[in-house]
Amino acid sequence: MDSTFMTATAHTNIALIKYWGKKNAFLNLPTTSSLSLTLDRFYTTTSVSPSETSTDTFVLNEQVCDATRVHTFLKILRTQLGDFPPLHVSSDNHVPTSAGLASSASAFAALTGEVVAYLGLDLPKETLSRLARRGSGSASRSFFGHFAVWHEGVDDDSSFAESLHAPDMPIALIVAEVSGQSKKVGSSEGMMRAMTSPNYDDWVKQSANQFDDMTAAVANADIEKIGAIAENNALAMHALNLTATRQPFTYFTDETQLILSLIKDMRRQGILAYATLDAGPNVKIVTTKAQAPEIVAALHDYLPQLKLDVAVSGPGITYD
Ligand code: ADP
Ligand code: DP6
Ligand code: CO
Repeated sequence: MDSTFMTATAHTNIALIKYWGKKNAFLNLPTTSSLSLTLDRFYTTTSVSPSETSTDTFVLNEQVCDATRVHTFLKILRTQLGDFPPLHVSSDNHVPTSAGLASSASAFAALTGEVVAYLGLDLPKETLSRLARRGSGSASRSFFGHFAVWHEGVDDDSSFAESLHAPDMPIALIVAEVSGQSKKVGSSEGMMRAMTSPNYDDWVKQSANQFDDMTAAVANADIEKIGAIAENNALAMHALNLTATRQPFTYFTDETQLILSLIKDMRRQGILAYATLDAGPNVKIVTTKAQAPEIVAALHDYLPQLKLDVAVSGPGITYD
């Protein structure tokens, strides 16, 4: 096989129990375990080939761009996998980059899987997950389809994600794209600030309880409960940003707030709709496949310009 032409595809995942803080920034060990749903609609494809220069090179969406993070990560892979010659990395994001739609998750999962396959290594997904974690924490969860859990662990070996075996369920996630623009406060910076909130330790404790409740809700295919816990967990995460003692901030815009209040209204009318938000202004709505069209229609009536996509559970990493 000519591995030059092989491509890895990894899908983004949305955390229902969030990762928002590092207990070890060098190893990228999180302060909490997290739990996610992989999405079918948003993904990254990455291929590698020998570099034509003496250094690693990187092209994203056919454009040369800042390669610092890719360079740093390839260096880490060389320490973990053994040295390999300079690579040319070519990647395409089928998801907005740096907009709080988890491009770093699909990106570093695809890059890890691609480099490992290119080197002819056959490693279990849990090992790939451990490696990808060093590129971006959320990437550790993107090797697995459907639901995944990232165990926070205590060291490099014990911090990785695995599949959370769950029954099939008609869960849907509506992505309301308030802005596809690159965020001003990147995830790594945002969580460093959040950790200076006086409420941070309480959030970590609460997260452990919510993680257990969420695991049970997933096992019971209880979409209402999944949504309710996810919303609580996410809003508490965003409250940390506001209450940071060092450079408090928010990812929310007026439109974010409006969508959140519309979701509340829908709930009062008996519709199953709960919000979760990542490091950006975009709102993801947990609902059922059956109720998604109704929610999309209601939001569209109110905000005709708003870009809305309905995602369902997506697959793990693939190679072709
Ligand atoms: P997001 O909300 O999109 O995950 P982050 O701040 O977590 O935003 O990460 C965005 C960063 O991830 C980008 O600035 C870039 O360094 C990196 N990234 C995004 N897509 C790719 C890709 N396809 N390949 C390599 N790195 C990528
Ligand atoms: C809010 O994985 O992007 O989406 O590890 O610093 O790259 P780094 O951060 P990243 O953070 C994701 C934060 C989040 C919640 C989550 O995905 O768990
Ligand atoms: Co990210």
